[in-house]
This record gives sequence, structure tokens and C-alpha cells, in this order.
Amino acid sequence: MFEMNFGAESLEIQLQRDGLSEAYAENLRRATAYATELAETGLLPFAKQSSEGPELTDVATAATHIRAGFKHLIVLGTGGSSLGAQAAIAISRYLPDHVAGTNTHIHTPDSLCPFEMDRLFAALEPAKTHVLAISKSGTTAETLAQLLACRAWLETKVSGDALGAHFTFITEPGERPLRTYGEKLGSPILDHPTDVGGRFSVLTTVGMLPVAVSGLSAAKFRKGAEDVSSDFCENPGASAAVVGAALTHTLHQHKSVTQVLLMPYAEALRAFTRWHGQLWAESLGKDGLGTTPIRAIGPVDQHSQLQLFLDGPNDKFCTFVTVPSLGEGPRIDPAEAKSYGLDYMAGRTIGDTVTCQSRATQETLRGKGRMVRELVIDRLSEENLGGLFVSFMLETVVTAHLMGVNAFDQPAVEEGKILTRQYLADL
Ligand code: PA5
Repeated sequence: MFEMNFGAESLEIQLQRDGLSEAYAENLRRATAYATELAETGLLPFAKQSSEGPELTDVATAATHIRAGFKHLIVLGTGGSSLGAQAAIAISRYLPDHVAGTNTHIHTPDSLCPFEMDRLFAALEPAKTHVLAISKSGTTAETLAQLLACRAWLETKVSGDALGAHFTFITEPGERPLRTYGEKLGSPILDHPTDVGGRFSVLTTVGMLPVAVSGLSAAKFRKGAEDVSSDFCENPGASAAVVGAALTHTLHQHKSVTQVLLMPYAEALRAFTRWHGQLWAESLGKDGLGTTPIRAIGPVDQHSQLQLFLDGPNDKFCTFVTVPSLGEGPRIDPAEAKSYGLDYMAGRTIGDTVTCQSRATQETLRGKGRMVRELVIDRLSEENLGGLFVSFMLETVVTAHLMGVNAFDQPAVEEGKILTRQYLADL
């Protein structure tokens, strides 16, 4: 699945050097005790989405309908109702054995933007487009506005009776605008589990339906998540989630660390950093507390943010996610490289270069006294991404426990939502 790596110097030695051994041991003890409690009480619902869950049958049916009948899928949803799916489907382009593929292109206009809606409507054909509207609450203004706009656009080419087949909905059971809308249209409605919050919902129908439409296996995502969840339950103190939470909290308390950097060295994980940024910020930024997530991707951001990470304030906990890539990708012709004096890259592959860059960057950061952790996944796969999802969600929840905040609410953003509705009505 994935391994944690702290470089040549062990974690214990690094903490000892900073005089943090005792503080870390205490946070690790508290984090492990909490994780053990979670394990004993059956783990949290987001981490218990079974690879054999009956709702995957509904997911498969809806995905087959969409894939068979439509060239385009517009996924409407914002925040936790979109970012997980975006992160999950991003790997479909990079899996060598992903032969099933799909002819359905997925569009995820997760940020409400008039110009983006105009662009989409100008580019797509209504008759060949399906709309999947996702909202746990069923009341989010952005998603509802997009939905109404999509319907008007579809109706320019699709007649009344056929309209319902162009929509699928995911929302919680009970009376809510999105559900009523779907019921009136006679479209399929999948349930959003009531016990899983938006930013923790990637392994539910919310992430798994787009995954299935993209031709990936929802069961494999969940299998990977199950494996990580059971490792967490069996030996919480050694899990990446608990160690990560104890480390972040210790560094925050005792070394003025206020930011967490997530820097994968794989294009396939670029969208994953957006998903993680939301999960971390919205779950932990409370009561004047929290650490700010920073997104970067290697190697490109070595040429943009790395100078700051190396030589700016030492206030970041850096997590690298790497996929072994020695020998991967195109190989550079030795004679050609040498003829330009580029002997060091003669015969190397692009993957060789990336591997060396990641290693060099991590070592340089450590040399500058920065705290660096590497999570190495053995390959890009649905299972490994499912495992990473659940590991980071558990890490967030355990960190919230150490900080003493509720990971599952977001009270501060509610005020702005109420005001927006009021301003819009008053226009
Ligand atoms: O994580 C969260 O709870 C939020 O980011 C929500 O996902 C986001 O506000 C969208 O909410 P809803 O799914 O109810 O439309």
C-alpha cells in the first residue's frame, strides 16, 4: 500500500535533536488512545464504506446508463461534493491497465462562474449531455443555480418526457429542494449517507459514481480504503494517520509550525492536493486554531515555491507523496544528450529524473532543519488512492481530537451563505 519514510535520520533522532521527544511521545500516546477508541467503537462511517456495499449496485446501474447514452457528464457540486470525485477520477488517465476507458467526458465546474457555464454550454451538445447534481444538504445555492441553468439549456434541445433521463441526483433522504427537483423530473436519485459529511464523502456514492463513469473500479477504491482502515484498527500507533497527527500537533505546539505542505511527485495526484486542502482547512480551522494547508506538486513547484520552503520561515510540516518511477517514462537518447554536454542525463528516463529531484528536494529540506515525511505508494492504482483518501481523513480527525476541535462542522461559513441568499433576493 504505502510506506512512511523520514529519510536517513530516524524520526526519533530528529525529534530528539529538537528536544521534542517527550512532547511527541505524549501526543502519540493521546492520538493512539483516541484511534484505539475509534477502532473499538467500529470506526467512523466515512472509513467503513464496504467494497461490497449494496449501494455500489445503484452506482453501477447509474454509471452504465450515463456511459451508454451520453458523451458528456457535467458534475454539479461544490466543496466536498466535488473535490473528492475530481481527485479520484484524475488517476484514470495514468493507469496503464485502465483499458476499459470511457467515451464520456466528465466536466466538474465546481466553482460557480458565469463564463465557465457559458463556455460549457457553447462547447457541449445538450442531447448528448448528462447532468449529475450532488449536494448533501440539497440546498447549496451554487449547485441549485447551476442545475436550473443546465435544465434551461438542455430544454433547448431535449423534449419534456426525455428530460428526466438526462439527470441523476445524489442527496440526503428527506425533504430538500434538490430531492424534490429530482423526484419531479423522475430521475434516478442516489442517497448521500446521512452519517458522512461532505468533505469525508469521497468513498460514498458522491465520489464513486463519477469514478464508475470514468471506467475506474469503485470496489477497488473501497478495497484499498478497507485495507488501510484495518491496519489503522490493528496497530494505530504505527499508522501514517496517527503518526502524522501526532507530529503535526507537536510541531504546531512546540516549533511554531502553522502550515502543512502536501507535495506529491505525480501529475495524477494534483487534484488530490485540492481535496486535501479542503479537508484539512475546513475540518481544523476553528476557534482561532488550525494549520494552513499548502498545495504544491513536484517537480514543477521546485521552480515556484521551493525557495520559500527551504529558506523562508521554518513553519511548515512537509509531506511528500511519491510513486517509484525509476526507469519509467521516455528514455533520453545517450548519444543525443552527450552531444549537447548533458552527460548526466544520457540514457536516463524521465522517471529517473523525477526520482532524483524528489530525493534531492527532500534531503535539502532536511538539511535546512525542515521536518519532512514521505509517503511512498508502490504504484498509481485505485486501491492505493482509496487508501490515501482514508488515511488522510483519519489523520485529520485524529488531529482535530488532539487540538480539541470538532472536525465535522463548519459553523463560520454558514453566515456568508445566509447573507448571499439575502443579497440575491434583494437584487
Ligand atoms: O465539506 C463540507 O461539508 C462542505 O464543503 C460541503 O461539501 C459543501 O459546502 C457543499 O455542501 P452540499 O453537499 O450540502 O451542497
